[in-house]
Amino acid sequence: MRTNYARLRKLFGALSLSLVGIFSAEGAVALDSLQLIPRPVTISYTKGTLTLPKRLTLSAHTPRVLRDGLAGLSLATTEAKGRTSSFIRSRIDPSVQGREGYRLTIGARGIDLVARDEAGLRQGAQSLLQIIGQYGARLPQLSIVDSARMAYRGVMLDVSRHFMKTDMIIRLLDEMARYKLNRFHWHLVDGGGWRFPSEKYPLLTKKAAFRTESDWDKWWQKDRRFVDEGTPGAYGGYYTKEEIQRVVRHADRLGITVIPEIELPGHSNELFSAYPELSCLDGWAFENSDVCIGNEKTFTFFEAILDEVMALFPSKYIHIGGDEATMRHWGDCPKCTERKRVEGLKDDHELQSYMIRRIEKYLNSKGRKLIGWDEILMGGLAPDATVMSWRGEEGGIKAAKEGHDVILTPGSHVYLDFYQREADGEPRANGGFTTLEKVYSYNPMPKELTASEAKHILGVQANLWTEYVLDEAHAEYMLFPRVLALAEVAWTPQADRDYASFLRRANYHVPALLKRGVNAYPLRHIAALNDVDTARREVSVRLMSERPAAEIRYTVDGSIPTALSPVYDGRPIVSRDSILLVARLFDGGKALDVPDLRFRTDYHKGIGKKITYNDCSWNEKYPAGGERALLDGVRGTPTYLDGRWQGFTSPLDVTIDLGREEELSHIFAKFMQERIQWVYMPGEVEVLLSSDGVNFRSVVKQSTRTSEEIYQPVFETFSFPMKERARYVRLRASNDRPKGNFIFCDEIVIH
Ligand code: ACM
Ligand code: ZN
Repeated sequence: MRTNYARLRKLFGALSLSLVGIFSAEGAVALDSLQLIPRPVTISYTKGTLTLPKRLTLSAHTPRVLRDGLAGLSLATTEAKGRTSSFIRSRIDPSVQGREGYRLTIGARGIDLVARDEAGLRQGAQSLLQIIGQYGARLPQLSIVDSARMAYRGVMLDVSRHFMKTDMIIRLLDEMARYKLNRFHWHLVDGGGWRFPSEKYPLLTKKAAFRTESDWDKWWQKDRRFVDEGTPGAYGGYYTKEEIQRVVRHADRLGITVIPEIELPGHSNELFSAYPELSCLDGWAFENSDVCIGNEKTFTFFEAILDEVMALFPSKYIHIGGDEATMRHWGDCPKCTERKRVEGLKDDHELQSYMIRRIEKYLNSKGRKLIGWDEILMGGLAPDATVMSWRGEEGGIKAAKEGHDVILTPGSHVYLDFYQREADGEPRANGGFTTLEKVYSYNPMPKELTASEAKHILGVQANLWTEYVLDEAHAEYMLFPRVLALAEVAWTPQADRDYASFLRRANYHVPALLKRGVNAYPLRHIAALNDVDTARREVSVRLMSERPAAEIRYTVDGSIPTALSPVYDGRPIVSRDSILLVARLFDGGKALDVPDLRFRTDYHKGIGKKITYNDCSWNEKYPAGGERALLDGVRGTPTYLDGRWQGFTSPLDVTIDLGREEELSHIFAKFMQERIQWVYMPGEVEVLLSSDGVNFRSVVKQSTRTSEEIYQPVFETFSFPMKERARYVRLRASNDRPKGNFIFCDEIVIH
């Protein structure tokens, strides 16, 4: 949102510089208070306001979203005859620059909306509606020149793991359009249930749309079985053809393309309860989720389903999944083996690729294009496929370099099934930790690409998987306001993005979302950013909250902050010893109804000291920076994905050399349990001490107090007060679980 003072200078060219200065300051106030999301490319202000009349006359070519939106704001409208008599004048002008480009001018005598095309008119209309929504009947005079950074600005919703009703989808589309998002990726089928109505294969909705349990873990542990529609107590659902048509029509009016996804060849276990012949195994077995690629019936099935899908969805793109096939049974299946022989396919990757290519050919023959998750790169990419890169950006980079179009949806930044603040006090989520800021920080343009390769990056999408998202309200809680951050990532030029500005605006939009009946997460994260200065021998913490207008008050002795506690002033809180920081948000003298932050940090004797790993090594996926990780003074944040937690699939056994004999008063080590990600507490942690590094004596042992039945992330500090002297400290943490199960540690603190 660059303020265009050039125009002001032209207008006031004859006036003194100081007057321009004063006027610019006024402009800055207005700029600051305008709450548009996503931030437009340019705004220039002119002095004055425009008052809306009781009845707004609209010119020909007024986009329908504007008419509908004005009606939604209870503003009366009427059609004008001829351009001059109308109050809001919309028109197409191909000379307007940029993708979905528009110019919106709120002047002294009405409003002009000029756009390059219909899409641009719709986007300009959304900006105008947001401005009217904010200011009511008296608008600031201004001019916006705006266009989209990226063509594809998407949201994916998984309706298989938990079914989401049509009304919620409609509401989601309305909100997406408001924030200029234009692709709805509808993950219609998966191992949690089939949601697409097929006339050709009616058993899908009869036998694969309802399951024995709603709760994902209970169902997974119990039987992973589907039951017939109508079975008492069964959980599930599917869309009727009419409901799908309603969604597609509504989306079309808003300028949103609905991209349906039909998963293959993996994530297909639900199919086998309806059509077991599509499996490599003899009938249904829950550990099998891949279809048989050797069987021609598989192709007959998917081609027929895709015909029905294409009849309902006009989208050029059809998503065919392609992710996470287990490939567990293709090797033993006679039909798959025969397919490989006949087609000269050397392995399971090529077998999968054979299927994707064949399906692509089919879609292409009907004038459609295939999108798949990045695993479709395995065994060779289908010639015209577009890749949705979710396992980081690597797949996207590779595909773009091969000349394929790409949509970036990396799990690291835009997976909305992860926690948005600490798990404590939040509904159960799927492991990771993706704050609003994390989403906002994503720049969907990998540095590895040349300018011509970068043209293949069509855009970016946030994904909401719903294993742990129980219903529509919960889905909205996970989507909003993170989807608003995505909208700005996708729309606004990278150079114009600024989190502090976005956060201020998000704080305006969250109450507005709630008022519209959208169950948004009420922004309440307080982040502690911890740093260590080994030269000055001190640790420091900076605090940031998602409510910049609120005061952060804090204590460093573990007590609950009151209205009399110090206000955090933005500078680091420094300690040369040990503090237990507690931070709380206040508005005036009143504490907000937001959970406190508790954060412990220490400048301790172990920082920077030599550490030896005894017959163990961190897992290559979770090195946390290697040898320094456990003694760097920087604490792990609430996610196993933050790059600070060191992970071990073996027991942990390390020796720390303090360099000389030291008085030891307290040693502790923090571990995390994140069962969904196969991370468990160590059964037991032991501290041993030595003066010579050879002969160790065990001084204390402690068993975990954490139940392995807890699925929320849990953090446990194994704490060992002591009165000892030693030079060498050895810490052992057990890990008795089978291979593939982790323990995660950060940090070992020595006082
Ligand atoms: C995915 O998250 N399996 C695409
Ligand atoms: Zn097979």
